[in-house]
Amino acid sequence: MSLKCSHISKQFGRLKAVDTLNFEVQTGEIFGIAGPNGAGKTTLFNMITGMYTYSGSIAFDGRELNGLPAYRICRAGIARTFQIPQLFASLSVSDNIRAGAHFGSRRNKPEAETIEEIIDFVGLGEHRDHKAAHLKLLDKKLAMIGAALATHPRLLLLDEPIAGLNPSEITQSLELFYRINQELGITILIIEHFMKVLTELSQQLLILENGKKVCLGPPHEVTRDQRVIECYLGEDHD
Ligand SMILES: Nc1ncnc2c1ncn2[C@@H]1O[C@H](COP(=O)(O)OP(=O)(O)OP(=O)(O)O)[C@@H](O)[C@H]1O
Ligand SMILES: [Mg+2]
Repeated sequence: MSLKCSHISKQFGRLKAVDTLNFEVQTGEIFGIAGPNGAGKTTLFNMITGMYTYSGSIAFDGRELNGLPAYRICRAGIARTFQIPQLFASLSVSDNIRAGAHFGSRRNKPEAETIEEIIDFVGLGEHRDHKAAHLKLLDKKLAMIGAALATHPRLLLLDEPIAGLNPSEITQSLELFYRINQELGITILIIEHFMKVLTELSQQLLILENGKKVCLGPPHEVTRDQRVIECYLGEDHD
């Protein structure tokens, strides 16, 4: 797995949401992304996953993704979750995960065993037949992760996966992210606002502001960077 973004930009009218950005994600790592609201974080995910047109190059394992439709990018091995849970509200948890498997595969029929394994892996066994609409926020997020895993990704993009969760739900989610990374060997790109969590989880941290890279490096260095403190963390951060 390798992901290399070279000079990528996305403009909405006169707004440069992502502005000539360069970075590379290494195999097996957890790569954190943070920055103020409107910095371009979600836009970046929409570019990588083929939801937006853009300029520049995104290479995944050396293959150019720019111009490919979203399903081809997914089938190449990149899956994502959304900042606001996106599920089929009237479908059950298992059918939502099955829908993910269909999107991410050329085969017509995903194996039932795989779906069951994923439901257990994300911890939704008791909710497998419940409609997505009736789930609490954590379970919606877990179902979305399950649907993403059902596409058999090598790279998983998580957009604010712990926003809105309580402390014990956050602990449960972080354990799941570690298991996805370590047991399944999936590289993770994670957008979050909780610096403590990002610092703990990630090997590299990218800070964006106004679509531009402010700083990229190991978290303990990035959080001490004066530009990062000025634009995002504030002087009195811990
Ligand atoms: N489809 C769109 N059309 C027009 N402007 C957009 C669109 N999507 C995003 N933007 C604008 O691009 C900028 C970056 O938005 P983006 O959603 O990527 O920010 P973000 O870093 O994810 O912020 P947040 O932390 O609030 O989720 C914002 O100014 C936003 O209003
Ligand atoms: Mg966002």
